[in-house]
Order: sequence, then structure tokens, then C-alpha cells
Amino acid sequence: MDPGVRLRCFGCGAEPEGPHPFACPNRGQGDVDHVVRRELPAFAPPDRQFNHPFLRYRHRLASWHRAQANGWSDEEFVNGVMRLDHAVAAVDGAGFQPSPVVGLAMAATALGVREVEALVTADDVSGSHKARHLFGVALHLMVAGGPKRELAIASCGNAALAAAVVARALEWPLRVFIPTDAPATVVARLHALQAQVQICERDPKVPGDPTYHAFRAAVDGGALPFCCQGPDNGLTIEGGMTLGYRWAEYWASRGQVPDHLLIQVGGGALGSAIGAALREAHAAGCIPRLPRIHVVQTHGAFPMKRALERLAGRGWGVAAAARQRSAYMWPWETPPESLAHGILDDETYDWVALAEHVLATHGQAVLAAEPPLRRAQALAKLAGVQSCVTGAAGLAGAFSAAHLFAPTDHLAVILSGHDRSDP
Ligand SMILES: Cc1ncc(COP(=O)(O)O)c(C=O)c1O
Repeated sequence: MDPGVRLRCFGCGAEPEGPHPFACPNRGQGDVDHVVRRELPAFAPPDRQFNHPFLRYRHRLASWHRAQANGWSDEEFVNGVMRLDHAVAAVDGAGFQPSPVVGLAMAATALGVREVEALVTADDVSGSHKARHLFGVALHLMVAGGPKRELAIASCGNAALAAAVVARALEWPLRVFIPTDAPATVVARLHALQAQVQICERDPKVPGDPTYHAFRAAVDGGALPFCCQGPDNGLTIEGGMTLGYRWAEYWASRGQVPDHLLIQVGGGALGSAIGAALREAHAAGCIPRLPRIHVVQTHGAFPMKRALERLAGRGWGVAAAARQRSAYMWPWETPPESLAHGILDDETYDWVALAEHVLATHGQAVLAAEPPLRRAQALAKLAGVQSCVTGAAGLAGAFSAAHLFAPTDHLAVILSGHDRSDP
């Protein structure tokens, strides 16, 4: 491995090896939260000749460092990214671009704050931010080379669609584990993208998400984790970090950092990625301070809020909590329900990194009630963003947490998923 990048499990310190160092070699051992993180020696500046996020920030990608260690030239890596991006565009209509930042003036008025801005990923590849995670993983597969292997993911929505688009662009086979109630439009699109779709029924005697159990069995059987969950593939996080890098650059250019950032949390990879990118940018002096990072879930299921409350109650550091996983994180006991069904994960898989971001920035855990979820979606639409309810859940959280804000405050949210119920 290039001495420039280090891959290490935050839970136990083990360093995965081989062509696919996605998960900790000790995964499943002890009551430890094993998640591989990449550590870079320095925070490279963006390559401003490119707008493409995976080219602009490539010197911060472990895949670029691994390519260098394997003897690739920078040009070969750039060409590889461009080829894969063209293939994505051929499959989905467009490749990756910087996600726009949009002002939500009506939301600011309704909340009684100075400004609300949104980073919009609802029109990104496959209609959400999820393809960022998976394109990042695809670059690792590109650099590793070797024969094609089956890829696997468990999801009923945006992550599955993103995986199917990127796998199709790679021309690797993909198996998608979906629940019985996955939307017909999603299933049809997965078939059109030639994914192998497997429906998983919930067994009342087995806690947790049945699609996730089936996914784990597939990975144990040799499939590669092509997913958006850090414990199964720690390197999925860095593709999502390109969104945080973009935001930090935008704030630096405006000379203004928001006071609060509200992020909707399902499995937690989105928040883990954005928080890590912003904290890196702050540590490198690119932005003078950090917003308070608040995590938003619904009343339907809030394993992250539960974990943060336990963390606060026990006064332990996050590193210690990562070695006592079962005291903080376990599957939500009842089948969760909410309009924001995309963030109803039974567990917040990336809870440790999220907890670090919340604690480091004095953030809070917020529960969005159902009426604000609808209201947030409507306000996004008035600003011209066709967001789904899940994608607007961070903004909905702002309505449930209005007591946290002063009239002079500047809020930031992510409108992260396209509304497929609209024609
Ligand atoms: C539109 C949208 N926004 C946000 C999220 C939350 O992302 P994560 O599961 O990484 O917390 C999801 C997850 O499916 C999503 O579909």
C-alpha cells in the first residue's frame, strides 16, 4: 500500500489487506464496531482545472493513492474516472457534476431565521447522493483490477438504484436484496438495469432487516459489498465525502459558514461522509469554523438518537463506545413507519462516525414529525427542487428543532433524493 494512505479499523485498529480492503478482517468478532477508515497524510488542494467531483478531489481518494502505489500515472487514473463517468452517463443520462446549492427563502421565513441553503443531490446520478458512495467504490474495483465478481447490496430504493446504475456502467453483475414492499417503479428499473433482484420476507422471530441478513450471507459467500454502509465497506464513505468537500469550498468562496447543518440519517453513511469531509476541510484551515451538525430521524425509528442519549448518559468517549457496540446500537424493535421511509433503517450502521461529528460540533439528535416532513417537501418544491419526503427530512427536522435557532442563524440542509411519485 502507498505510504500516503492508511486503511485502518476504527474499532480494533486492524489494517485490511488485499485487493478489496473494504471491511475489517476482524468483522463480527467481539462487541466491537468494526469500520475501516482511510487516513491520508495531508489534505491535498482541489485540482481546479476539473469540476468533476472525483477528479477535482482525486488526491484525497484512497483509490487514487492505491493506483499510485500500483504504478499508475495520474493521467491513467484521470482517464479511468472519465471512462467510467461516460459509461454512467450512457446508462443514466448524465455523469457526475458539482451538486448545486440553492437558497430556500420561504423555509427561512417560515423558520424565522436569516437564511436556509440546501445542497441539492436530488438530480444527481440515479436521483440521489447514493451514487457518489458507489462510484467511489467502483474506482477501487477499477484500480484493483482482476476478474469480475458478483456485487451485492440490500436496499429498497435509492441505494439499490445507484448500485444498479454504477454496476451496469462497470459491467459487473449485481444482486439486489429488496423487501416485499419495494416500490414497483424501483423494481422495474432494477430489472431494466439487469440487476438480479431477490425479494426477502421479514421473519418476526429474527430481529433486524431481512434484506440486510441476506446481503450479509451473500458477502460471506464471496460477493463484494457494493453498498452504502461503512461496516460492510468502509471505502464507500469517501465517495460521499466529495459532497462535503464541495460544500466547504462553496462556503469558503462565500466567506460564510452556516451555523447549523441538519442531515437526515438512515444507515448513517451520508452524515458520516459529510461530517468527515467538513472536519477535514476545517482542520486544514479551508473553512474557519464548523456548523453544528444535527442528525435528523423520524419518530418511526431513531436508533441514532437512542445511541447519542446513551453516550451522553454514560459520559464515555466515542472510541470506548465503539468497543461496547451492543450497549448503544441494536435493531429497532418494532417495524418502523414514516412518510420518510428511506431513513427507516433498523440500525444506524455508521453511528460511531456520526456520533463523533455531533459531539465535535455540539450538535443534537432531532426527530422530524410527520406534518413537517410534508411541509419540507412542499417548500423544496416551491424552490424548484423535486425532492422526495426522505430527501427533505433534514429540512423537516429544522421545523421540529426551531428552538435551537436564533433569528440571525444561517441553516444548511441536504435535499438528497428525487421524488419518483411525480411524473
Ligand atoms: C434520499 C435519501 N436521503 C438520505 C438518506 C440517508 O442516507 P444514509 O442511509 O446514508 O443515512 C437516504 C437513505 O436511503 C436517502 O434515500
